[in-house]
Amino acid sequence: MSAQPDPFAAFDRLPRVPLALLPTPIQPLPRLSAHLGGPALYIKRDDQTGLATGGNKTRKLEFLLAAALESGADCVITAGSTQSNHARQTAAGAAVLGLDAHLVLYAPGGQPPAEPDGNLLLCHLLGATIHWTGERAPYAATLARVEESLRAVGRRPYVVPYGGSNALGLMGYVAAMREAATQVETPNWFAAHVFATSSGGTQAGILLGAHLAGIPASVRLLGISVDQPAAAFAPRVATLAADGARLLGLDWTPPAEAILVDDGYCAAGYAVVTEREREAIRLLARFEGILVDPVYTGRALAGLLDLIRRGAFAREQRVLFWHTGGTAALNAFARDLVPTS
Ligand SMILES: Cc1ncc(COP(=O)(O)O)c(C=O)c1O
Repeated sequence: MSAQPDPFAAFDRLPRVPLALLPTPIQPLPRLSAHLGGPALYIKRDDQTGLATGGNKTRKLEFLLAAALESGADCVITAGSTQSNHARQTAAGAAVLGLDAHLVLYAPGGQPPAEPDGNLLLCHLLGATIHWTGERAPYAATLARVEESLRAVGRRPYVVPYGGSNALGLMGYVAAMREAATQVETPNWFAAHVFATSSGGTQAGILLGAHLAGIPASVRLLGISVDQPAAAFAPRVATLAADGARLLGLDWTPPAEAILVDDGYCAAGYAVVTEREREAIRLLARFEGILVDPVYTGRALAGLLDLIRRGAFAREQRVLFWHTGGTAALNAFARDLVPTS
């Protein structure tokens, strides 16, 4: 009998720099599960990936910064909001590799906030140069201007896309799904994987990784949208996943019915903290001693809690919540999280 071709062979040939502490553990959440009356909840600790408080971008940066090194870059540029977890992890990854980090950060009017707290504090400590902008995502004009100004003085910048979400970056989550598949007894051990989705790379990587790892279509891969309407966002995820597949020499696009995006929890707007996020943060902290952030993981967990209460999962099913990080932002939201009177 001829051996099956290794579905990850092309993936294993990609340049990659080790930045993350892997594998991240999968932990049960027994007290929260009991409080909810099931399903059996588990958490994938991608908040423990290591780079200056960790998070999902660290996985993507293993591939993106390897490409930066291969291109002969001496500095990297990326962009995000004032409290960008992606920018902070990029600054940390650049520091590890001896590259300078230039961060284009959005603030209203392009003015730095009065308090350099949360992720912004960490970006300063990590030695990043910050370029403030009033331009919104994907920050293309400001990124181009910063790149040009660096080239003009003889620097060799590598631009990491906003959110680290391109064909190369999403390989971090191909790796993550492969890793998660080795941490369970059967490919359908979890009935669902639930995670925050925003620039799409995590979801696209999870879809492609699940495909390569042979995870059956019955396993739901559900992105809780942090800020995007599902109708416009799902096709972007499909394109990203197909781009990733092409990078591995595969002609594959995830079927439309596999791209699950729930945009029922983002109406308040990006980074607007509501009672839903507060409750999710409180429950996970008080039942399990684990922190999530109000912008991404708290919002996604709030969505999961609501779905559970509305009967979306059977009591005996297992559900994996991906903790994609973000807790470095917590102190920047202190006023939204703790009653002051
Ligand atoms: C903590 C956290 N979780 C999830 C996401 C969403 O990941 P993606 O942008 O790959 O959709 C982000 C993106 O910034 C994030 O910072």
